[in-house]
Amino acid sequence: MITSHTFEKLAALVKTHSGIHLTEAKRQLVVGRLAKRLRHHNLENFDRYYEVCTSSPDELQIMINTITTNETSFFREQHHFTYMRTHILPHIKTGHLRVWSAAASIGAEAYSIAMVLDEILTPHAITWEVIGTDINTDVVDQANEGLFPMRFAEQIPLEYLKAYCLQGVDTHEGEFIIDDYLRSKVHFEVANLMEPIPNDLGRFDIIFLRNMLIYFDNPAKEHILKNVLKTLKPNGMLFIGHAESIGHLTDEVTQIKPTIYRKGARS
Ligand SMILES: C[S@@+](CC[C@H](N)C(=O)[O-])C[C@H]1O[C@@H](n2cnc3c(N)ncnc32)[C@H](O)[C@@H]1O
Repeated sequence: MITSHTFEKLAALVKTHSGIHLTEAKRQLVVGRLAKRLRHHNLENFDRYYEVCTSSPDELQIMINTITTNETSFFREQHHFTYMRTHILPHIKTGHLRVWSAAASIGAEAYSIAMVLDEILTPHAITWEVIGTDINTDVVDQANEGLFPMRFAEQIPLEYLKAYCLQGVDTHEGEFIIDDYLRSKVHFEVANLMEPIPNDLGRFDIIFLRNMLIYFDNPAKEHILKNVLKTLKPNGMLFIGHAESIGHLTDEVTQIKPTIYRKGARS
């Protein structure tokens, strides 16, 4: 059980540190997810847990990790990958292409992007890299490992599965791992998109910001878009999730298709 007052305090703490907007409708979900943290600290109620979070940065991070929803899959919203392969990549003739999976979760999105880039660009000697970031430190560690439960393999086209994935053995029975080559082209780090994006992340040709904005209210969405779009090169492409819309929140991009945008005003 959590009182309305304590839920509001916890929700405010989550909002301050992640931007995530926990509505009253999320109350039971939050109680369910955080119950094990109360047991871990042997606490009798959420008021005490709130105190632990406000006095311990480590517990605050664990709380944010526990609260975030990290649902993802390989080649989720397949049409984005088709669009990239047919409408964007064929026009890249030289240079080094940089793609950002901006709320990467465990990395399925970033590795899906890498498979397509390797297939289309590498044979033409065009170099590329993929960066994935997330606020959740656990999923960033998992993404860097590149180890996935076998059920995730079902979403990967067979030719990519054969080319880039290895079946786990012994302690990794029932899992598969992304091979060393593809993992060397993709790296993951922790970043909070509510905060200024670190300069050393660089600038990007393509950004995937998918299925993340749904957890934020409009002012936070606007703030995140401003931060993220600073790193998108002119004419760079932005993909958002199918349940998201940003037209009313920024005039820095032009809509090409319902969830596909190009940086720059309509000419
Ligand atoms: C539902 S997953 C989306 C994963 C992937 N983009 C996809 O579409 O499959 C949303 C991710 O956003 C991350 N997230 C939430 N708030 C964030 C913030 N302020 N900064 C960075 N990442 C955040 C969560 O940790 C979670 O992994």
